[in-house]
Amino acid sequence: MEQRNALQLRPSAEARFADELAALKASDQGRRPPGWALSARAVRSFILGDNKLSIRRKFYGDDALVERALVALMSEQGLMLVGEPGTAKSMLSELLAAAISGSSMLTVQGSTGVTEDHVRYGWNYALLIAEGPTPRALVPSPVMEAMRLGRVVRVEELTRCPPEIQDVLISVLSEKVMTVPELGESASVYAAPGFSVIGTANLRDRGVHEMSSALKRRFNFETVVPLTDSALEIELIRQEVGKRLGQADITVNFPDEVTDLLVTTFQDLRRGQTKDHVPLSKPAAVMSTAEAVNIAHAAALEAAFLGNGDVGGAHIGRQLQGVIIKDNAEDVKKVRAYVDHIVKERARRSKVWADFLGAVKAMKDES
Ligand SMILES: Nc1ncnc2c1ncn2[C@@H]1O[C@H](COP(=O)(O)OP(=O)(O)O)[C@@H](O)[C@H]1O
Ligand SMILES: [Mg+2]
Repeated sequence: MEQRNALQLRPSAEARFADELAALKASDQGRRPPGWALSARAVRSFILGDNKLSIRRKFYGDDALVERALVALMSEQGLMLVGEPGTAKSMLSELLAAAISGSSMLTVQGSTGVTEDHVRYGWNYALLIAEGPTPRALVPSPVMEAMRLGRVVRVEELTRCPPEIQDVLISVLSEKVMTVPELGESASVYAAPGFSVIGTANLRDRGVHEMSSALKRRFNFETVVPLTDSALEIELIRQEVGKRLGQADITVNFPDEVTDLLVTTFQDLRRGQTKDHVPLSKPAAVMSTAEAVNIAHAAALEAAFLGNGDVGGAHIGRQLQGVIIKDNAEDVKKVRAYVDHIVKERARRSKVWADFLGAVKAMKDES
């Protein structure tokens, strides 16, 4: 497949976690749904972790959601993961596909430019002209491949696809067959056991192509929300940043207090309320865990390359600016109010918060 030959900046989940998947397979005693590479229990362990097998937790926050997702994929329905950007919808769909089908590569990247060729089939035109419509000239889509092989196909950002693409998916999910009129009846592809569709959609895109009710009936919807548990969010950030710095061979001193400040700020602004229930205005900016990881990573890079290796509140303050303030004047006001009221108070009692305050103020004065 051409995807395999392309230069990959980030290897697929099945490649990154090949050892874990092999260990799970070797010890898998559970019952496997038809067409699955692993039992549902083993897939659960792959995603939520298993200490006995040294399987690391990959998705944090909502274990029950993962279980419901597994049930949806065993059923006749598809699975639709919806939520704000950066809530790990794509990550979860990749992990599910890798564990269930042994491959997460059958993927359609949704956009307004997606055509029926991307979800049904196309033709190799040189062969089509030379020999007419033959099986050899047919170029299957990832959806068709998944049906033939009994695998999971992922449709990313499904709501960005035009309505006729959504219609193809409806007929695929309801009839479980894809016909090829040019080649006759015998060329129809029937979905093998194990076939399923995982769609993802960002709530912020809604309205680009509102999903039809027919499509909604074919999918089990699961809403993925940002982490509300600070301890889990801190653990995730430390783990992700540790991994990124480790790969680049960078060591910094990243005190817990600094991660705590970052997570507290994110949770306060995301919730529109402090831990002590002081109400705030919520900025419109996306404040996902993924953004928090990026800030922590950038702060560490600044400390490593431009500082003495100690990450402090000031590094976080400088990075926060880029995420929140972008080009929204209303957000600037909201963050300013948060800084003037809440952060100033905390800065009286904590050096980390005082450094954070200083950095945010200095940036504001410049702009
Ligand atoms: N609940 C979570 N558990 C684990 N990782 C998360 C979680 N939320 C966010 N992340 C991090 O955010 C990254 C971006 O997620 P992604 O799958 O691209 O989000 P989405 O598709 O929802 O926009 C993930 O790769 C992961 O590092
Ligand atoms: Mg995504």
